[in-house]
Amino acid sequence: MEFRLGVVQNSPKFLKAPENIKACFELMDKQAADLWVLPEFFASGYNFKTRKEARQCAEAANGPLIALLRAYAARNDCAIVAGFPERAGARLYNSAALVQGEKTRVYRKTHLFGGEKRFFAPGDTGFWTERVKGAAVGVMVCFDWFFPEAARTLALQGAQIIAHPSNLVLPWAPEGMKIRSLENRVFSATADRVGVERGLRYIGQSQIISPNGTVLVRLGPEQPAAAVVGVDAWTARDKKVHPACDLFRDRRPALYGR
Ligand code: ACM
Repeated sequence: MEFRLGVVQNSPKFLKAPENIKACFELMDKQAADLWVLPEFFASGYNFKTRKEARQCAEAANGPLIALLRAYAARNDCAIVAGFPERAGARLYNSAALVQGEKTRVYRKTHLFGGEKRFFAPGDTGFWTERVKGAAVGVMVCFDWFFPEAARTLALQGAQIIAHPSNLVLPWAPEGMKIRSLENRVFSATADRVGVERGLRYIGQSQIISPNGTVLVRLGPEQPAAAVVGVDAWTARDKKVHPACDLFRDRRPALYGR
């Protein structure tokens, strides 16, 4: 069955959440998807200078931002994965929520990037997968891509689709994610942002990659946009790259050590 996998690429205005959320929903309203992936910190912007600033934008996983996402998902019979600064007691996390129906599940970014380390605690949720209309979806956030263990862990848990909210500032992820998809034989959906924010330029190029490492869609480096691709998620269950070579059955973990 075809699964409609969508990415949203936005250009958020820093600290203007209502405007940024509206702009994303307007992009999403133009086409239907079963799963929409939105960027890291899509509503707030990314480049916080103080912990106070980050804390002001952060909210609990049952807060008003997630409620808005859930309402959109319910209205449109879809699931959404979106990045947000999460407040949990005294701690802040760089998190992404998967919302569908009554359910919200949170992933907290494992591998923090650059200045994030000043404000956010390293994620403690570990990796998980959830079923969305029959497809197993896992989540990792931006810089996690640089650690092959993240995508591999998700794939070993059965993820057929890796949802990858991002705010990319280094140039390598669009090409690198082709390898993450290929070596794990999974679909990946990287939702990035564009624009310049307090001196940081984001590279856009949000994309959806097949288990063969082919680019099914890639957006441009500068404009907000959204794209949906129909995929057969079940093809991600086949880990064979040759009749005699199954990438998962042929692994030799006993020899990998540390
Ligand atoms: C990043 O992890 N936002 C580069």
